[in-house]
Amino acid sequence: MCGIVGFSSLNKSAVGPLVNGLRRLEYRGYDSAGVALESQDGIKVYKQTGKVAELDKLLSHALPESERGKYTIGIAHTRWATHGLPTRANAHPHVADNGNLALVHNGIIENYAALRSGLEKRGIKFLSQTDTEVLAHLVATFDKGDFLVAVSEALKHVEGTYGIATISARHPGEMIVARKGSPLVIGVGEKDIVVASDVSAIVAYTHQVIYLKDGDIARITPDGIDVRSLDNSPVTREMQEVDWDIGSIEKGGYEHFMLKEIFEQPDALANTIRGRLDPSGGTAFLSGLSLSPRELAAVGRVVIIGCGTSLHAGMVGKYLFENLADIPTSPEQAAEFRYSNPIVGPNDWVIALSQSGETADTLAAVRESIRKGALVSGLCNVVGSTIAREAGRGVYLHAGPEISVASTKAFTAQVIALLMTALKLGRTRRLSFEHGDRLVKEIQRIPEIIKEVLAENDAIAKVAEKYASADDMFFIGRGILYPAALEGALKIKEVAYVHAEGYQAAELKHGPIALLSEKTPVVALLADIPGKEKTLGNVQECRARHAPVIGIVTKGDEAAAAAVTDALVVPHASPEIAPIVSVVALQLLAYHVARLRGCEIDQPRNLAKSVTVE
Ligand code: AGP
Repeated sequence: MCGIVGFSSLNKSAVGPLVNGLRRLEYRGYDSAGVALESQDGIKVYKQTGKVAELDKLLSHALPESERGKYTIGIAHTRWATHGLPTRANAHPHVADNGNLALVHNGIIENYAALRSGLEKRGIKFLSQTDTEVLAHLVATFDKGDFLVAVSEALKHVEGTYGIATISARHPGEMIVARKGSPLVIGVGEKDIVVASDVSAIVAYTHQVIYLKDGDIARITPDGIDVRSLDNSPVTREMQEVDWDIGSIEKGGYEHFMLKEIFEQPDALANTIRGRLDPSGGTAFLSGLSLSPRELAAVGRVVIIGCGTSLHAGMVGKYLFENLADIPTSPEQAAEFRYSNPIVGPNDWVIALSQSGETADTLAAVRESIRKGALVSGLCNVVGSTIAREAGRGVYLHAGPEISVASTKAFTAQVIALLMTALKLGRTRRLSFEHGDRLVKEIQRIPEIIKEVLAENDAIAKVAEKYASADDMFFIGRGILYPAALEGALKIKEVAYVHAEGYQAAELKHGPIALLSEKTPVVALLADIPGKEKTLGNVQECRARHAPVIGIVTKGDEAAAAAVTDALVVPHASPEIAPIVSVVALQLLAYHVARLRGCEIDQPRNLAKSVTVE
C-alpha cells in the first residue's frame, strides 16, 4: 500500500509535480521515498529513507532548480514496507539494465523468490531485498525493442498484485504503467499526463481521469495514452470527471487532517444524506442500488463485510437491519470471510464497506460473493474505486476525501448510509410509515446534532489532558453502542498508541476486569439506549476496582454524569443515531490524547490509509 506517481510533459519539469504528488499520497505509506528522472543523459535516481520531506531535502541539494527543466518525464514512490526494511537500498525506484531502467511498484509479487533465483542463475546481481527489484530485472531481460511488450511479458510471469510505472533510457519519452489488484489512475491534462495510485495526486493538474482496470497496461508518451491488455490487444477506457477540488485535500487551517475531517462531519454527513430521503414515503432513495422493492423484499439475509473501522460500522449495521428490517444480518471480517468458503448464495445480500474501495481482503470477499451468486453492493467513499466498480451497484458516501489514516467521517457516513439502507429495506417489509417518518426526521437532524458534539471540543480536550499519560484503557458499551466502543478503542490505539480494548460491557466480568486498577481508565458509552442501566452497573464495578471512568453521557442525564469520574456530554439522540454521536466524541478524545502525547496524528507509525495487500 505504497503510493506511486508518474509525470510526462512536453515541456514542464517533472520534479515538482512528482514530489507534490508523493506528498498527496504520503498517507498510503511513509517509510521511504524516491524518484527516477529521464533526460537525454539517461535515468537519474534519487531515494531517501523517511518522509517525502527528506527526499525533497535531498533533491534540493543534489538537483538545483536550474538543472530541473531537462527532466520532463519521471516516476516516483512513497513506501509502506512489505519486503525488506525501510532502507535506502530497499526504497523505490528499483533499477536494472545497468541503471537504464527504473521501476516503481505498489503491491506484492508472491512468486518473487522463485523469479529471483532464476535471474541470479543468469548472473543478475540484486541490490535490495525487495520483491519489486525482481520485476525491474525481469522487464530488462524481456526488452527486445518494444517497451510495452517487454513489460507485458515480464508481468505474465508475475503472481500477486501490482500497480507499476517504469521508464527506460532505451525508450526515451515512454512510460509504461500497468495494474492488477492495486489501483492506478491516469490524469489527462492539456499538456501533461499524471499517473497515480489515487486521484488526490492528480486533481491539482486535471479533473479528467482514466481508471485502469485489472490486466490493463498503458504506454504513455507526451503525445498520448495507448491502453492495451497484456496480450497487446487495444482496450478502450472512458474518460471520467473527478468532483474533488484541491481545497478538499488541503488542511484548511487545521493542525491535522484528522481534526479537519472530524469537524467536516456536519457537511460531509449532509452530503451523504442529500437527495436520499423520501419524507412522503417515510423511507429512503438509494438509486445506486437499483434494486426494486420486490428484489429487496426477496432478500433472505444481509451479510456486511469490511475491515477495521469499516467492520465496526458494519457491526452497527447489524443492529439497524435486524431492528428496522427484521432480517438476519451478520457482519464479517473480510479476510476471515474470503478464506472461510463462506455460505452465501442468491438469497443473500452482501454489502461491502470500504472507505478507500481498495482494501485487498474486502475486494476478494466481494469477488467470492459474486462467484457464489449473492446479490452484492458496495458502500464506498472513493468514486471509481475498484470495489465500487466490481460490485457494480452501491452507495457512495460523498463524504469527500479522507486523508488522515485514522478514519473518522467515513465511519459516521457509513453508519448513516447503512441506516438509510435499513430504512429502505424495512419499509419494503414491516416497518410502519410512522416509524419511517420519525427516522427520516431524525436523520435530517444529524448534521445539527454533530455540531453540538463538536462544540464540546474544548471540554473533551480538558478530559483528555487528565488521561493522556495512561498506557492502557478500556472502552465498554452494550447493544448498538458495543461496536462504537470497539471504534473508540481502535482510534486511540492507532493515533495515540494507547493499548486499548473495546468490550461488550457485560463481558468485563468474564476476565478483563482482572486488569482494572487506578491506572486503567474505562470509557463507558452511556447514551440513552436500552441497556444503559446495565452499563451503569458495570461502571460501578469498574469504580469499585479504583478504575477512573470517563462516561459518554446524554445532556441532562444527571444520574449517569454522577456515576462517572469525568463526563463527556453529548446531545440526546435516538438509539439508531447514538453510535454516531458517541463516536464523534471518542474521535475527539483520541485526537487530543494523541496531540498531548506528541504523536504523528495523520500518519501513525506502521499504518497506511488503504491496505491493498493481504
Ligand atoms: C481506520 O482508522 C483504519 N485506517 C483502518 O482500520 C481502515 O478502516 C481499514 O483499513 C479499512 O479501510 P477501508 O474502509 O478503506 O476498506
